[in-house]
Amino acid sequence: MSAAVAIEVEGLGLTFASQSEAPTIALQDVNCRFEPGKVTALIGPSGCGKSTLLQIARGFLNPTRGRLRFVEIASGKVAERPAMATVWQAFNLFPWLTVIENVAFGLELAGVPRAERDARARKAILAVDLNGFENKFPRQLSGGMRQRVGIARALVMEPEVLLLDEPFGALDAQTRLVLQEQLSKLVETSGTTAILVTHSIEEAILLADKIIVMSARPGRVCDQINVTLPRPRSYATTHEPEYAALFDRIYGQLRDEVMQAMIIESGGG
Ligand SMILES: Nc1ncnc2c1ncn2[C@@H]1O[C@H](COP(=O)(O)OP(=O)(O)OP(=O)(O)O)[C@@H](O)[C@H]1O
Ligand SMILES: [Mg+2]
Repeated sequence: MSAAVAIEVEGLGLTFASQSEAPTIALQDVNCRFEPGKVTALIGPSGCGKSTLLQIARGFLNPTRGRLRFVEIASGKVAERPAMATVWQAFNLFPWLTVIENVAFGLELAGVPRAERDARARKAILAVDLNGFENKFPRQLSGGMRQRVGIARALVMEPEVLLLDEPFGALDAQTRLVLQEQLSKLVETSGTTAILVTHSIEEAILLADKIIVMSARPGRVCDQINVTLPRPRSYATTHEPEYAALFDRIYGQLRDEVMQAMIIESGGG
């Protein structure tokens, strides 16, 4: 059984240096916390540093200021890097491997025996509704199906920390709902600490226990909201008054921040 791990972010900053241009301050003084067994959504304008934050968590980038730590809930001690799985924005499947080989790849790296690897991969493939496609190659799948392979590849690892960068972007509404539901159940029962980057306010409210709203670049935390709407949440939830209030609160903040981001992108800020 995996340990419950919280992620603590304190005074986190990251500046990308450039030889020819001015440096890009991607993140500035970010403070927040991600709890185990919960889905925390990160929402904010394009370019505000959401993917950068996930890359720091994954260990692919080092912060220039502050820190991001993993804390074991049981002991309160700072943990080593926990078992992590990631679904990136571009779902990098191996084109030369079949669906089942892609899904089982991480297990193979981890030295899981073939029979167990196969059984776990089939279970994950079933969870994303791709049974029958085990032996197809990525090029034979639609964009949405590839994305589901990416999600299966993360689920199969039963990770302590699950990082999701707009994982549902290319999916049709129906599949999206089914997978969103499965994701919240999985996180709740497994104690996984999940960070979900999304551009969809609806997705954030339906899926998350907490929503962190980020400012335009340089990304800072401008609001943190606990979502207490009862589960299971569904399309019907979007008719609740509490949903409307949350939506308005987040929409208002994002509108201001997106305007700001557009000014920066167009070189006016
Ligand atoms: N490797 C890099 N080198 C230089 N600048 C970078 C690098 N990666 C990202 N950036 C810049 O850092 C800022 C934050 O990028 P990031 O990808 O984290 O944004 P994001 O919030 O994930 O955006 P989106 O919603 O569009 O995916 C952007 O201005 C981006 O151009
Ligand atoms: Mg991104």
